[in-house]
Amino acid sequence: MNMNDIIGKKRDGGKLSQEEIEYIVKGYTEGSIPDYQMSALLMAIYFQKMDKEETFNLTRAMKYSGDVVDLSEIDGIKVDKHSTGGVGDKTTLVVAPLAAACGVPIAKMSGRGLGFTGGTVDKMESIPGFQTSIDADKFMGQVNNIGLSVIGQTGHIAPADKKIYALRDVTATVGNMSLIASSIMSKKLASGSDAIVLDVKCGDGAFMESFEDACILGEMMVEIGNADKKKTIAVITDMNQPLGQAVGNSLEVIEAIDTLKGKGPGDITELSLMLAGIMIYAGNKAESKEQGYLMAQKALESGEALKKLTEFIEGQGGNPEVINDYSLFPQHTCTKQIICNKSGYVSKIAAKAIGLASQHSGAGRATKEDTIDLSAGIYLYKKVGDKVSSGDILAEIYGNDVEKVARSEEEAERAFIISESAPTKEKLIKKII
Ligand code: URA
Repeated sequence: MNMNDIIGKKRDGGKLSQEEIEYIVKGYTEGSIPDYQMSALLMAIYFQKMDKEETFNLTRAMKYSGDVVDLSEIDGIKVDKHSTGGVGDKTTLVVAPLAAACGVPIAKMSGRGLGFTGGTVDKMESIPGFQTSIDADKFMGQVNNIGLSVIGQTGHIAPADKKIYALRDVTATVGNMSLIASSIMSKKLASGSDAIVLDVKCGDGAFMESFEDACILGEMMVEIGNADKKKTIAVITDMNQPLGQAVGNSLEVIEAIDTLKGKGPGDITELSLMLAGIMIYAGNKAESKEQGYLMAQKALESGEALKKLTEFIEGQGGNPEVINDYSLFPQHTCTKQIICNKSGYVSKIAAKAIGLASQHSGAGRATKEDTIDLSAGIYLYKKVGDKVSSGDILAEIYGNDVEKVARSEEEAERAFIISESAPTKEKLIKKII
């Protein structure tokens, strides 16, 4: 097989065979296909697209490029949850204890943040002592004992995707539906859970800006998951403003704890209950999504889910005292307030701009090698629809580096649009597929 011919075939709109896709994935992962040929192929795929069969074959080839985790030592139907990436999205920290408290085993691998979106692993590491890299026996033992463990993803899961994603990132080829679907699903299918719930974000702070594109992506991933015999459900949710009020690692963990105490923002609480309800249903612990929702609500109100979070933190070496004493989290030394300069209504808070402002305050990385400030980020005092007056505090930026905090001030300021009339409210949960 010849890579040059394969690139030409796709450039001219041809369909790649299973053998050709396996050849590409194997060759690129092993290093026999160079970056320049893979870049050309990715650009050809970007413009000519892949059909369903090609997308399935690419997913399968990337899934089997590394380890496929065997979770059979864990009893019950293991359910995974994945978000396509959002700003202020701390739902895993709420949803996982909710579902685990209702008897659904959660053995989850999560990623670190890059760019303007955060990652669950970084958030968990803001808990003093918390270990995100534990060995397989401890990981499975903890799920069998307390029903929940979340660790960082290992290098052996879909290494082909890791290499291809890094190349897509620097060749302007991330935004292709088949490439995104196969990238996400190859990792999910290799991670060993029996069922998968996907939170597909749409809007300004998401890969898919339009609702229609988010639905196509959701449908594609559901088909890929179901074809691999994993019960897969996608929820299309709004990302036209950040989720909740906190953006930044320790700030988001505190908000997640507050949510499990019943004191969280309405959007986080609603989305978490919905996602947990679907996971409870996918894990066969409820007969319907609605019944799952009610079970999750009960676990929240009874304090069982908060108890589960405490056990989870303790199980992975974290200090469980953080649940009641937020001063144990990393602390910031600088703050900057964003003050409203006119009266009216908040009609938009650009999620991407807030994500970037948070990143620049020290909370996120521009490259994988960057170190982050776990205390940094932004707290939003006002959300879309709120009535505001000149002089009100819209948001507050936190960090430990005066220059970084100052840099993010301008971005955060620009993210807020104030209008004279109240905006129409976007639905948070738009569709379930
Ligand atoms: N997340 C992934 O893992 N892959 C993509 O291509 C996009 C988002």
